[in-house]
Amino acid sequence: MSKIIIANWKMKLSVKASLDLAKKLNSALDTKNKIVICPDFISLALISALKFKKNFILGAQDSAISISDALTGEVSALSLKEIGVSYVILGHSERRLYQKEDDQTINQKIKIALANNLKIVLCLGENKQEYQTKKTKEVIKNQLKKALSGIILNKNSEIIIAYEPIWAIGTGLAMQAVEANVIAEYIKKIAMMIIKKPVKVLYGGSVDSSNAQLFLKQKNLQGLLVGGASLKIEEFLKISNN
Ligand code: PGA
Repeated sequence: MSKIIIANWKMKLSVKASLDLAKKLNSALDTKNKIVICPDFISLALISALKFKKNFILGAQDSAISISDALTGEVSALSLKEIGVSYVILGHSERRLYQKEDDQTINQKIKIALANNLKIVLCLGENKQEYQTKKTKEVIKNQLKKALSGIILNKNSEIIIAYEPIWAIGTGLAMQAVEANVIAEYIKKIAMMIIKKPVKVLYGGSVDSSNAQLFLKQKNLQGLLVGGASLKIEEFLKISNN
C-alpha cells in the first residue's frame, strides 16, 4: 500500500532554494507514495503555480484560527485552499513551544481547516522527561482528547496523526520503530474512540534514509513526517522512492 511521506521544510530554505528543490524533487520522484511538501507560506504560493506529478502534493506548516479577521501575520485555511494546498500541519511541537499554541487553539485551527476542506496532519508527542517517566500514553491521550474535541468528520475530511516524540525531533535520536508502532496502535485506538473514524498514523523525529524503511514496515504506521532529511534531495529521494 502506498505511504504518505511529508516533507516539513520549516523555515530552512529561501524562496529560491524552495522553488529549486520542489522542481528537482518533482522530476526525480519515482514512487507511488504520496509526497507532501510543506514549504514556508511565501514559497508555497509560488510553488503552487507550477505543474507537478499527481502524487506530488502541497501542504502548509500551519493555518490560522479563523478565516478572516484582524490577525496580523496569519494565513487562513481559505487562502491555502484557494492556491491548491491539500494538507496542513497543525500542532507541530515547534509551534506549541515558540508560538505557545495550546491544545484548545489547535482544536480551533483543526475545525477551521476542516471546514475549508484541508486535510489535517495533527502533530503530537511527549517530551524527554515524560518519555523517561513512562508518561507517553497519558500525554498522548490528553493531547488527542483536547485537540479532537467536538470534531465531526464528513465523508471527504481526513485527520492524520503525526506521532513525533519531541526528544526525537532534530536530535538524530529516532525512536525505535517497533516502539513507535506500539504507540501508533494506541493512538489509533484513542482517536477511534473520540472521532469514531479510523486514522492514519505517521512517525516523525530524526527520520533518515537509514531508518525510514524500518518505520514504513510497521503495521500501524502509514507514513513519515520528515524534517532535516527532507532538505537533502538525495536523502529524501531514498526515503520517498520505494
Ligand atoms: P526532523 O524533524 O526529521 O528533523 O527530526 C521532524 C519534524 O520536526 O517534523
